Amino acid sequence: MKLLVTAGPTREPIDPVRYLSNRSSGKMGYAIAQAGVDDGHEVTLISGPVCLAPPDGARVVRVTTADEMFDAVHAEVPAADALVMCAAVADFKPAHAAPRKLKKTDGVPELLLVRTRDILGSIVRPKKKFILAGFAAETHDVAACALRKLDVKQCDLMVANDVSGSSTGFETDENIVTLYFRGGAARKLPRAGKLEIGREIVRAVARLSENC
Ligand code: CTP
Repeated sequence: MKLLVTAGPTREPIDPVRYLSNRSSGKMGYAIAQAGVDDGHEVTLISGPVCLAPPDGARVVRVTTADEMFDAVHAEVPAADALVMCAAVADFKPAHAAPRKLKKTDGVPELLLVRTRDILGSIVRPKKKFILAGFAAETHDVAACALRKLDVKQCDLMVANDVSGSSTGFETDENIVTLYFRGGAARKLPRAGKLEIGREIVRAVARLSENC
C-alpha cells in the first residue's frame, strides 16, 4: 500500500519572527509512518516543523504552513492508496503576515485571523480504492465530535484522540484512542504507546484498503 501520512503542527506567520501554532509534537504521525514502513508499506510523510528524526525508509516532505501542507497533500494524494491525516493543522492564520518584525514600541498589534482551508475535507478520492482517515483530538464530547467529523469529512476511519489528560495525547508518548469506522463500527484501543497505536491504525487502514 502507498501510505501518505501527515504529522506535526503547522506554523502561521505573524511576522518574520513570530507565528501561531499548537502543541502537536508530531510523535503520533511519525509513529504511524514508522509502523507503515515496518509493515512493508511505501510511506510518504508530510511533516510540519517538529524535532523528530523521520523513520528510515519513509520519503519525507517538509512543510511549515497550513497552505503548504494543503499543496503538499494535494500533490501526493493522486499517487497514494491511503491518507492518514494526523497533522494538527492550524485552523486560523493571521490575515496578513507583517513583512518586518513588529516592534512593541508601535503598540500592541491587533491580529485579524482568517480560517485556513480544511485539507481533509477537501480531498476528492483519486480512485475508488482509496482510504481516507482523520484524527479528532478532543477534550470533551470525544465520541460525538469524532462521529461528526467522520461524517462531515467523508472519511472511512476517524481516530478519536482524548487529549484531556496530561499523561496522554499532546507531547506525550502514549495515547488513548478509539477507531470509528464509516458504517458504524467502533474499536476502543487500550492505552498504549504511540508506536503500538500506530501499528493498529496502519493495520486497520490496510484491512480497509484490501476490502474496498
Ligand atoms: N484538518 C485538516 N485541515 C484543517 C484542520 C484539520 O485537514 N485545516 C484535519 C486534521 O488533520 C484531522 C481532522 O481534520 O485529521 C480533524 O481535525 P480537528 O482539528 O480535530 O478538527 P477541525 O476540523 O479543525 O474541527 P474543530 O476545530 O471543530 O475541532
